[in-house]
Amino acid sequence: MTGCSSAFRNAALVSGVARPDPPRGRIVPDMTPSRYPRRHHRTGLVAALLGAALGTVALTGAPVRTADPAQADPAKAEPAPTVRLRPAGAPPTVFAHRGASSAAPENTLVSDEVARRAGAGWIEDDVQSSRDGVPYVLHDDTVDRTTDGKGRIRDLTAAQLDALDAGSWFAPAYAGTRLPTLAAQLEDLRTRGGNLLLEIKGPHTRDEVARIVQEVRDHGMTDRVLVQSFEVDALRFTRELAPELPLGLLRADLDADPVATARELGLAAYNPSDEALSARPGIVRELHAAGVSVNVWTVDRPARWRALADAGVDGIITNRPAELAGWAAAWAPPGTAGQAARRDGHPAEQPQGPLTASDGRLVLDRDTRIATADGRGPAVTAVLPDP
Ligand code: G3P
Ligand code: CA
Repeated sequence: MTGCSSAFRNAALVSGVARPDPPRGRIVPDMTPSRYPRRHHRTGLVAALLGAALGTVALTGAPVRTADPAQADPAKAEPAPTVRLRPAGAPPTVFAHRGASSAAPENTLVSDEVARRAGAGWIEDDVQSSRDGVPYVLHDDTVDRTTDGKGRIRDLTAAQLDALDAGSWFAPAYAGTRLPTLAAQLEDLRTRGGNLLLEIKGPHTRDEVARIVQEVRDHGMTDRVLVQSFEVDALRFTRELAPELPLGLLRADLDADPVATARELGLAAYNPSDEALSARPGIVRELHAAGVSVNVWTVDRPARWRALADAGVDGIITNRPAELAGWAAAWAPPGTAGQAARRDGHPAEQPQGPLTASDGRLVLDRDTRIATADGRGPAVTAVLPDP
């Protein structure tokens, strides 16, 4: 196979629709999700392959202003920085929901890496505090569904959480994947690249929010993080403690006046459910007029991507970032910003090396592109480098 088609070959390979070239190294077993979430629909393979063939690009809007954390003083601070509105002609920003959660165990570093290599410039992850106050990346209020442990995260210590396996539930090949701390995730993003849509999940005290924003500052990531939450108190605390961080409000149902809510909370982004926005797509224009971006969750169907793009939304939060990135690359008219093969966000500060799961079985070399096939077939096959 020729070099010029390597991206396509890799996409086909990892999608399970092509056989690999005679291997230079070992071939690891297919990693078929053992408990594939029902909501992950069978969509977008063609788009993913096309996107990979085009050299799938990250299409993102990065925060545009950064304040010096040392200067953070709510009394003197400018309004919260805005996340860039979608430029004319560009497709919506790709937000990978819990990482590439259709292809890898959600809210883990491997899921983030799969999303990154698939072309998502933004990772969405959830953060919650352990019993001893350490922020961890986890969606549910218990560890039962996504680890080999049991119990509420609020009842478990960092030491107990660190001992959990957060990968086996998804597929055997992910055995040994750890539940990341927020600190580990921020460090991973800082060095490997990408931006973080950080959801503060569930009620948090002011002190707990302070710990979260301090982690963001400590890792020098304030200009690469958008904090979002359903919890208004969490957003208020964040605004008080770190006015340099842009804020997004998650809504399952729309406010009567979303613009007024956005102004009151100092929002950079208003992030409604797809269902909620469908009832009133006109709010996109109103929010844009107020300088507020609109990012919609959680949307996995190309038909909806098209409708939302036409409605003017700035970003789409999806379980299928590979397909959305591919779709977006193919969607944008030639010569527009979306076809410029640009990678928004911040380049990795270090060369991107292989990612290895803790048991050493999963290695994605730097040329491997990830695409999601479907929920039932082989999800990912990785070629290990020569020993
Ligand atoms: O980013 C939006 C989305 O994550 C909100 O829903 O339950 O997946 O956190 P959930
Ligand atoms: Ca979330």
